[in-house]
Amino acid sequence: MTEDAPLIDTTVPHSARIWNYWLGGRDNYEVDRTAGEQYREIFPDVLHVARASREFLGRSIRYLIGEAGITQFVDIGTGLPTVENTHQIAQRFAPQARIVYVDNDPLVIAHARALLTSGPRGATHYLHADLREPERVLAAAADFLDLSRPVGLILCGVLGHVDGHRRARGIVRTLMDGLPSGSHLSANDGAYGRSPAFAEAQGHYNRSGAVPYHLRSREEIAAFFDGLDIVAPGIVPCPRWRPEPFREEPADGLDLIGGVGRKP
Ligand SMILES: C[S@@+](CC[C@H](N)C(=O)[O-])C[C@H]1O[C@@H](n2cnc3c(N)ncnc32)[C@H](O)[C@@H]1O
Repeated sequence: MTEDAPLIDTTVPHSARIWNYWLGGRDNYEVDRTAGEQYREIFPDVLHVARASREFLGRSIRYLIGEAGITQFVDIGTGLPTVENTHQIAQRFAPQARIVYVDNDPLVIAHARALLTSGPRGATHYLHADLREPERVLAAAADFLDLSRPVGLILCGVLGHVDGHRRARGIVRTLMDGLPSGSHLSANDGAYGRSPAFAEAQGHYNRSGAVPYHLRSREEIAAFFDGLDIVAPGIVPCPRWRPEPFREEPADGLDLIGGVGRKP
């Protein structure tokens, strides 16, 4: 669903564009690069956090397809297209996989075509919508997915953009309530408590005029999974969530907390 093309504001940094910058992409503006560098000067590990999020996304999708049998996904807070987008990972293992991407950033919509390169047996769809309107997201997803069958809901690095932990929890609850038993939530967010520099850099960013992102405690992130059966190894620093075999235990990116839960 695309409405009138929203305006791209290059006077304040945007989450999707800074994220793209930290991931080594080119879809960002001077204001994003400057803010991204200022952030990195205070908290250099943010580059590892961004990479850890993408790697977690890949591993969790492989789990959802390979072990949970999920072949349809709603990825909210998609971000700008990068090398390994959800549908590319998913359709490598399940060519019939269907994906609904959701983001509210004007530049993401401008690049959405790159997210719509589905393989012939599956399908992708882009929805310009706001996570804070979960009923609307569900209604639009229902036009494209079979919501009587389990869905993988992906909320990576986006719940921090919702003001108030209670409100963010309510949004997750509404989304999961709209999905059938056997659906899974794969989510991660930045956590405070381990690196004071992370909180300092985020506070600086949040005062820049950008849409704020709220770091949360590990317990608050774990609470997003309330009512779900948590998949092992639990809600953990993302590099420790089912790392590739024989990979050395990474020492970076640990301020990103996430996991996977199954709706009973
Ligand atoms: C930090 S990026 C994460 C991108 C991707 N999920 C990943 O993990 O690599 C956050 C994304 O959430 C999007 N976003 C922020 N607030 C949103 C909202 N209220 N509704 C939908 N998307 C939102 C931003 O535009 C951005 O693309």
